[in-house]
Amino acid sequence: MPKQLFIKTFGCQMNELDTEKIAGTLSDLGYSLTDSPDKADMVILNTCSVREKAEYKCYSDLGRLRELKKENPDLIIGVGGCVAQQEGERIVEKAPYVDMVFGTDNISDIPKLLGTSRGKPRNKVSTGRRRAKYAGNVSGEVNIPIKRSNPVKAWVNIIDGCDKFCTFCVVPHTRGRERSRQPDDICREIRGLAAAGYKEVTLLGQNVDSYGKDLGGNAGLAGLLSMINYIPGIERIRFVTSHPADFSDRLIDAMTELPKVCEHLHLPLQSGSEEILERMKRNYTYKEYKDKIKRVREAIPDISITTDIITGFPGETDGDFNMTMDALMEIQYDGVFAFKYSKRPYTPARLYDRLVPSAVSKDRLDRVFELQNCITLLKNQACVGREFDILIEGNSKKDRGKLTGRTRTNKIVHITKRDGISTGDMLKVRITSATRASLTGEVG
Ligand code: 5AD
Ligand code: SF4
Repeated sequence: MPKQLFIKTFGCQMNELDTEKIAGTLSDLGYSLTDSPDKADMVILNTCSVREKAEYKCYSDLGRLRELKKENPDLIIGVGGCVAQQEGERIVEKAPYVDMVFGTDNISDIPKLLGTSRGKPRNKVSTGRRRAKYAGNVSGEVNIPIKRSNPVKAWVNIIDGCDKFCTFCVVPHTRGRERSRQPDDICREIRGLAAAGYKEVTLLGQNVDSYGKDLGGNAGLAGLLSMINYIPGIERIRFVTSHPADFSDRLIDAMTELPKVCEHLHLPLQSGSEEILERMKRNYTYKEYKDKIKRVREAIPDISITTDIITGFPGETDGDFNMTMDALMEIQYDGVFAFKYSKRPYTPARLYDRLVPSAVSKDRLDRVFELQNCITLLKNQACVGREFDILIEGNSKKDRGKLTGRTRTNKIVHITKRDGISTGDMLKVRITSATRASLTGEVG
C-alpha cells in the first residue's frame, strides 16, 4: 500500500503549481495523494502569507495537526510555501511537532529534508530555508517532477519573484527578486505537455510583463507568446498576472495577432484613487490604467477583464474609496477579487499611519462585492443566446450529471453530460442561462 499524502494549498496559482511539484516530488518517493488528512502518513501545508488571515489559518491548521500527531506519532508534518519562506525556523519554535519546513525555492530539497528529519528525533527539524532562498535562476528547478491536477490545462511558471515592491505586498520578501526561466526550457516543457495531451497552458508569474528583463534581449512576454503559439497541440494560452505599469502595446498586439492567446486579461487596479495608488507605489495613475483598458478593448472588443482591489489601505478616505467604486462602474470588469487591507511584515505600509478601522474596510469590501456582483451578473447574462468555444475541463464539482468547461474569456460553462463528449473536447456551446458564478449551455 503506497504511503498517503495530504496537501492543503493556500493562496495563488503559483502555490497551486508548487503543490503539484510537491506532489510530484513525493510521488517519486512512493506517496500517493489522499483527500483526507486523517488517513495520511504525511500532511503538508503549502502556505500563503499575502494576507494575515491566510497566515493565521496556517497556524490554526497546525494546531489541529498536532492533535492528529498525538493519535499517530508517525505522521510527518511539513510546512511549505510563503509562510515557510518568510518565517523559516520560527515555525518550528511555534510548532515544534513540525517535521520539515521548506520555502518556495526549496521543493527540490524535500527528499534531502526527509532523509535528515527521519533520522532525527521528531522535535528536531531540518529547514532548507537559508540554503537556496534566492536560488539565482529557477531553470535549475525545471526538473522537479510535477503531478498535474488537471489533464487538459496546465500551469507553467515563466518568472518567479517580483521587483515591484508595492508598499502593501510581502511577495518580493517571500518569493525574492525576479528570475525568468529560459524560453527554451519553457517551450520544452510546453511541448512535453502538448505531447501528453494538454490543450491549454497558463503562464504564471507575479509580474509576467517583466518576463525576460533579466535574460537580456528584448523578446519579453510577447516574444514568448509567439513561440508558444507555434507549438502544435496547444490550443489556448493564458497568462497571469500582468502589471498595469508594464502592460504594453506590444503585448496588446501579440494578444490580437496570436490566435491561441485567449481573450482574457487580469490587470490588478488595487484602487481608483490617484493618491492611494501613489502611496501603494503602483507606478501608474488611474488615468494611465484606463487608457490601457481602452486600447486593449479597442483591439480586442470581446475581451474579458478582471482585477484585484484592496479596501482600507492606510489613509483611504471615503472620497478615495468612492473613486474605486467609480472605477468599477466605469471599467465594468467581468470579475473582481477584492481584499481588506492587511498589514504585512517587512512592507513599508506597515508603518503608515491613518489606519482605516477594520469595520470600515470590511464595509467597503462588502460594497465592492455588492456592486461588482451586479456588474458580473449583467455581463454573464449578456452571454445568453450567444455561442462560444468551450474547452471541457472535467466533471462539474457540484452536479454529477454535468461537465464543466471554460470559454476563451475564462468564464465557467456547465453542460449536460452526453455520450461522446469528454474532458479535453473543444465544443461550440450556446449559452442558455447565466448566474454570477457561471454560465449554462447546450452543445450546438
Ligand atoms: N492586504 C490586502 N490585499 C493584498 N494583496 C497583496 N497584498 C495585500 C495586503 N497586504 C492583494 C492584492 C494583490 C493580490 C494577489 O492580493 O490585491 O493583487
Ligand atoms: Fe506584490 Fe506588487 Fe509584486 Fe504584485 S506587483 S507581487 S502586488 S509587489
